[in-house]
Amino acid sequence: MMQSLKGRVVLVTGAAKRIGRGIALRLTREGARVAIHYSTSEAEARATAAECGGAPLFRANLENVAEIERLFSEVEQHFGRLDGLVNNAARFTRKDPLEITESDWDFVHSVNLKGTFFCCQRAAKGMLARDGGHIVNISSLGGLRAWPEHTHYCASKAGVIMMTRALAQAWAPKITVNSVAPGVIPFGEPDDRVKRLIAKTPAGRAGTADEIADAVVFFLTASDFITGQTLAVDGGLSQK
Ligand SMILES: NC(=O)c1ccc[n+]([C@@H]2O[C@H](COP(=O)([O-])OP(=O)(O)OC[C@H]3O[C@@H](n4cnc5c(N)ncnc54)[C@H](OP(=O)(O)O)[C@@H]3O)[C@@H](O)[C@H]2O)c1
Repeated sequence: MMQSLKGRVVLVTGAAKRIGRGIALRLTREGARVAIHYSTSEAEARATAAECGGAPLFRANLENVAEIERLFSEVEQHFGRLDGLVNNAARFTRKDPLEITESDWDFVHSVNLKGTFFCCQRAAKGMLARDGGHIVNISSLGGLRAWPEHTHYCASKAGVIMMTRALAQAWAPKITVNSVAPGVIPFGEPDDRVKRLIAKTPAGRAGTADEIADAVVFFLTASDFITGQTLAVDGGLSQK
């Protein structure tokens, strides 16, 4: 049976703008008590928090495990619990794989894979000690399809998908761990590369943050019988 989000505490990382903001607004509309995480976008985070009925704000650089520990302690102190986690924060860069340096690699992996893992781990410690919970990792079409100029990003997101499967087993049945893989979700005028991807999308259009939020709400409210899954919200592009 689907569970209601009313009164449930959900932390959304990278919630200041774009997809994360859309997820936070949607969860608020569903009745959740949302914790807004941001790193550098303070003004946007304040605006999103206000739109989410005065939701509390938490700043942390997710590259750093000590900051992740502090973030979750602050959220748990504020609300007394944490029922859901949406790992949305990530970095995206483009570079010829022959040119990628160690710091280019770490720039992406330190947030997308390492940061996401330690957020899952820290959330799970609290959830396992209380009533369990739901974790949703935002991966990417790039974790399912190979994009040569984004090799490092694709590898990080494929890692998120496999981590989702492994952690789902590790923490069942108390915690479900699932993933949403967005296709093309542009903000502002798309560049030519993005326009070509949209043209290839079977749905014939780009997606919206609210369509990603639909899938997030589904996983946050689903029973413990749905875990370890990745749902592509991509207008069918992953099927080509
Ligand atoms: N947009 C798309 O078309 C698309 C497609 C496929 C997958 N996705 C995935 O969907 C999610 C959201 O996408 P988006 O385009 O909305 O993302 P985005 O705007 O590129 O990034 C979301 C947020 O991540 C936060 N972040 C980055 N580095 C951080 C760090 N070191 N510590 C803490 N937070 C950090 C940033 O917070 P601050 O701004 O506060 O620093 C940023 O606002 C990401 O996981 C992305 O990979 C997006």
